[in-house]
Amino acid sequence: MTKPVRIVVTGAAGNIGYALVFRLAAGDLLGPEQPVVLQLLEIPQAAQALRGVVMELEDGAFPLLHDVVASDRADVAFRDANLVFLVGSRPRGAAMERKDLLRVNAEIFSVQGQALDRHAARDVRVLVVGNPANTNALIASSNAPSLPAHQFSSMMRLDHNRAASALARKAEATIREVDGVVVFGNHSSTQFPCLDHATVRGRRALEIVDRAWYETDFIPTVQQRGTAVIKTRGASSAASAASAALDHMRTWIQGTEGSSWTSMGVPTDGSYGVAPGVFFGLPVRTHQGTARVVPDLALDDFARARIAATEKELREEREGIADLLPR
Ligand code: NAD
Ligand code: LMR
Repeated sequence: MTKPVRIVVTGAAGNIGYALVFRLAAGDLLGPEQPVVLQLLEIPQAAQALRGVVMELEDGAFPLLHDVVASDRADVAFRDANLVFLVGSRPRGAAMERKDLLRVNAEIFSVQGQALDRHAARDVRVLVVGNPANTNALIASSNAPSLPAHQFSSMMRLDHNRAASALARKAEATIREVDGVVVFGNHSSTQFPCLDHATVRGRRALEIVDRAWYETDFIPTVQQRGTAVIKTRGASSAASAASAALDHMRTWIQGTEGSSWTSMGVPTDGSYGVAPGVFFGLPVRTHQGTARVVPDLALDDFARARIAATEKELREEREGIADLLPR
């Protein structure tokens, strides 16, 4: 029998968790032949809600779901973990920026980084979804010194999907016909959704859409999409975030073959003039759990200025949590 893969979801009784765990149980991440064990972490106040989620997982009679572990203890939930979705944390409300969550959520990721260091499988892959995701990924990975930083990533895939979808709608194309979108920088309103190398049906996107739409409509719309969803839905995006988390992890494992690259928040390596020391949205090619930055896309002054602005914000976020980064 194929050995089950142990998948952790933190905040599993929350909105994203609820949209994510049933898709994991159904095989949407690893396919129809791979059994899974779900290891679900919650805080004690949400223990009863989590028991309800477990009841529904049982009632789903998922053939691939070999076991469910539900706990409020990180040492139990992270034991031998292969794939980890760090979702559990507070979402923002209206009139907040994601970085306003920095001090509220940062502690969670230092404690969980330490627990991953002690208990996870040595080749674990960790995706940070909880906001502010890039800086939380930095905190988690810095607190897990025995796990290489490149085994951690932060989620830019929701922004990437939003950008691809907005371009497809404007160009009256399908998502499959769009390629080469990338979102640089922070998962925040300073992010830079870049179309310089995007194509639609093989043709340069910036020859199809006009530059004014790109600069004054597309970029701010993608940057502000999370805020627009909060205002419209009355709650932070959940199903689209869960779907993007699955896309991110699936692409990391299965690879970017068939497309030019994807966008992932990864530890910086000096590419695009961004100094090492933060998790930054970059174009990456993936293969069986490795993610390599595509280092040399040509960018104009407009693009470089936007990359510098989002890098500046990430450095400020980093200063705000410096006490949680072990020396
Ligand atoms: P939610 O409030 O519905 O659920 C969060 C859950 O996390 C709750 O059930 C809570 O009990 C749990 N939790 C809190 N602290 C925890 C801890 N220490 N350990 C384990 N669980 C804990 O929120 P949500 O809508 O599911 O959003 C979760 C996070 O994801 C938020 O920070 C939100 O801003 C973020 N988010 C990120 C993206 C992205 O693209 N990176 C997209 C959407 C949402
Ligand atoms: C999003 O982009 O939808 C999430 O990060 C939630 C938020 O706070 O915007």
